[in-house]
Amino acid sequence: MVETLPPWKFANRPILRTELSPRTNRALAQPQHQMITNNPSAFSSPSIPAVNGAAYLVDGEIRHWTGVMTGIESPMQVHLGDLASLSTPEVLAALAAAKKAWNNGLGAWPTSHPNERIAAMEQFVAGMRAKVKELATMLCFEIAKPYKDAEKEITRTIEYIDLTIAAYKEMEEQSNVIKKADGFMAQIRRSPLGVCLVMGPYNYPINETFCLLVPALIMGNTVLIKGARFGALTLQLLIEDFQRSFPAGVINTINGKGATIIPPLMESGDINVLAFIGSAAASRRIRAPHPKPNRLRCVLGLEAKNVAIICPDADLDLAAAECVAGSLSYNGQRCTAIKMILVHGEVREAFTQKYVERVNKLVAGNAFDPAVSITPMPSPEEVARLQSLLAGALAAGARLVSPGLDGRTVAGSTLMIPAVIDQVTTAMEIAKVEQFGPVVPIGEWTDRMAVLDYLSNADVGQQLALFTASADVAGWWIDHTAQLQCRLNLNSQCQRGPDVFPFTGRKDSAEGTLSISDALRCFSIRSMVAVKKTPANVDLAQEILSKGTSNFFSTKVIL
Ligand code: G3H
Repeated sequence: MVETLPPWKFANRPILRTELSPRTNRALAQPQHQMITNNPSAFSSPSIPAVNGAAYLVDGEIRHWTGVMTGIESPMQVHLGDLASLSTPEVLAALAAAKKAWNNGLGAWPTSHPNERIAAMEQFVAGMRAKVKELATMLCFEIAKPYKDAEKEITRTIEYIDLTIAAYKEMEEQSNVIKKADGFMAQIRRSPLGVCLVMGPYNYPINETFCLLVPALIMGNTVLIKGARFGALTLQLLIEDFQRSFPAGVINTINGKGATIIPPLMESGDINVLAFIGSAAASRRIRAPHPKPNRLRCVLGLEAKNVAIICPDADLDLAAAECVAGSLSYNGQRCTAIKMILVHGEVREAFTQKYVERVNKLVAGNAFDPAVSITPMPSPEEVARLQSLLAGALAAGARLVSPGLDGRTVAGSTLMIPAVIDQVTTAMEIAKVEQFGPVVPIGEWTDRMAVLDYLSNADVGQQLALFTASADVAGWWIDHTAQLQCRLNLNSQCQRGPDVFPFTGRKDSAEGTLSISDALRCFSIRSMVAVKKTPANVDLAQEILSKGTSNFFSTKVIL
C-alpha cells in the first residue's frame, strides 16, 4: 500500500506525523496521518561531510582507486558520494600487507610492548574524539539513524575504546606475575592470533566494527577491515587517523562487493580470524572457502529473535513502553530488538491497546529531525523484503491491529510506517525469521510450556524480555530459560549495554563473547613461558627480567 502523499524528499524535508487517535472498539481507529508544514527551526540542515570514497589504506599508504565506483545515496534521498569497488588484486595486496605486518607473529606490532599498543590506540581515539559531529552527521545521512542515536553510536564507541584500553592494562597487569606450581615457574600471557578480517553490520557500522577492530588491534593482531553494506563512507572519514596512529600494514581498509572480494581472501587460507557481525547465512558463506578451517577462529555476532513475554501480572504501561522502544528503536534494525511479543491471553487486549497507543505517537520522517524516531529504511530491497514477510503473515491468518499501522511506505521513499500484527502463531514464518525492520508480531500464550517449546525450537538464542511483578513467576522463567538464551531482561527491553556486560548468544546467534574484557580474550590465545625451577634456570629467568631481554617474559610496569 502506498499513501497518496507528495513524494517524500529530503530537500523539502516534509515530515509525516502519525498521531494518536481515540480508541473506538477493540481494533483501533485509523490514525490521522498528516503532513505537517516543515518547521525549519526544528532541525538544521547539515552539510554532507567531505569524504574521499576512492581512498583505501594499504601497507600504511593511502591509495586511490581509479576503477569502478559505487554511488552512495542516502535513504534521505541525497547523493553522498562514491565508494571504491575494489577488485581481487587490490584486496590481495591488502592481505599481503596485513601478512607482512604480522610476519608470522614476528612483526613489530605483534611483538611490541603493551605500552606501545596502548599509546597508538590513545592517539587514534584522540583523533576520533575531534570528529564526533562529522562522523555522526555522515552516519545519519548514510543509514538514516536518528541523529541523536548516530551521535550516541560514535560517543559510545569512543567510550568502548577507553574501556578496552583500561581492561587491556588490567589484563596485562594480571599477567605481569610469575606463577609457581609443582617445581615450575611460569608467566602466562595472552598473545595475538594473526591476520583478522573485520566486517561490521550496517545498523552499527562504526560501533560494532570497532567492537571487533579495537580488541583485535590492541591484542597485537593485524587487520583488514571491509566497510559495511551501508555506512562505509562514515568509516572512510577515519582512514587518515588509522594511517597516523598505527604502523604500516597493521590496519588495511577495503571496500567493494562482498561476493567478489571476500572469497579470494578466505580461499587464501591466510585469514586467521573472521570477525563478522551479520546474518548466520552470510557467516556460513564467508567461512566456507577457508581451506584450513581448524586454523580459523570465528568471532561472530549473528541473528536473533528476541522475544518479550508479558505475564498476566505485568505492569502493562511499563511493558508497552519498553516493548515499543525494544521493537521500534531505529525501526527495529537492532540485533537486540524485540522481534516477537508473546502476551498472556488475559492481558493481550489491554497490552495491545497500550502498545498501539504508544506506536501511534511515534513520528516518522527525516532522521535529522529531533522529533523523529521512524526513519527511512536503507534500501527499497529491505522494504520489499519486509512487506513480503508481512503479506505472508497476513495471508497465514495474522491481523493488522490498527489499519493505520500497516507497513506502507510514503510515496517515493523507503520511509515505512510500522506494521503491528496480532493473532500471530509460532508456526508462521514471521515468528521464525529475524525481520530486522518495523514489523511487529504479537502472539498470545496461555501455556508457558508452549512458550518454552517455541524458544527451544528456535535456531537462535540471544535475549529475552520478561514482564512480571511476581518473584515466583520471574524465578520460574529465569530458571527455565537460562539455557535457551544468554540474557534475560527483567521488566526492560533487550539490549547490548552496558558494554562491560557480556554480549553473546547461543545457536545461530553468536560465536564468542563481544564485550570489553571478553573480546580481548576472543582475539588472543594463552601462551606461556614455563621454567623448571633449577638454580641455573632461576638465575636465567631473573636475568631475562632484570635486563628486559623479552617483551613477553617481562614484569615491566604497564603505564
Ligand atoms: O545490533 C546489535 C547491537 O549490538 C545492539 O546494541 O542493544 O545497544 O542497540 P543495542
